[in-house]
Amino acid sequence: KKMKLIRVKDYEELSKKASNILASQIILKPNSVIGLATGSTPVGMYRALVQLYKNGDLDFNDIKTFNLDEYYELNSANPQSYHYYMNENLFKHVNIKERNINIPNGMRKDIIEECDRYEKKIEACGGIDLQVLGIGRNGHVGFNEPDIKFEARTHIVELDHDTIEANSRFFESYEVVPKQAISMGIKTIMHARKILLLANGMEKAEAIYCTIKGKITPEVPASVLQLHPDVTIIIEEKAALMI
Ligand code: GLP
Repeated sequence: KKMKLIRVKDYEELSKKASNILASQIILKPNSVIGLATGSTPVGMYRALVQLYKNGDLDFNDIKTFNLDEYYELNSANPQSYHYYMNENLFKHVNIKERNINIPNGMRKDIIEECDRYEKKIEACGGIDLQVLGIGRNGHVGFNEPDIKFEARTHIVELDHDTIEANSRFFESYEVVPKQAISMGIKTIMHARKILLLANGMEKAEAIYCTIKGKITPEVPASVLQLHPDVTIIIEEKAALMI
């Protein structure tokens, strides 16, 4: 089945469309299991979702969430952690239950066990209904860097130089960016029933071209989404320049 492409004129429209897709999922299935992403791209989508909640149009009471990834050895109180990001951008503004929030714990001593626990929990919740994804400049999804094994489940990853550099804008310097993370694997992501990928800005244009039109290769982890039966991609104008 072909990927559904939604071209939008700007970030505002991207955020609105994305939040509407999430909202309709939540309305149609109030106990949905939602996979969430971080990064700058989904910030506007979260803002719009909070607005829908405040207007009384959305209820998170029965929603369960699983985040894609988390830095290794950053605790949830660290403003750079994805846990902190999620609290700030979504969780603390809506009526989601604390116990229904799942984010890999990068502080656990036994990381292998943490990865295993995370996978099992996703399964126990019945799998992910809708997974939101951003995309890295190098085509990564979650923290699945180029040359990843497509059969990987939640695992610990070494971040690429390019990713560390791109993400260093949120940190004091390149040196203090964690060099490792826990991430859902490609297999975890591919098991989600629906996928919503968001792409904004010129620096994503090449990754988006390779994802949609390129050959399926571990060098562009997002290209594997061509094999998923239900993918929607919302692409802002500049990110769509090459397609
Ligand atoms: C990070 C995250 C990804 C995200 C990507 C793009 O490395 N682990 O989940 O999609 O960066 O981020 P941004 O949206 O800020 O460009």
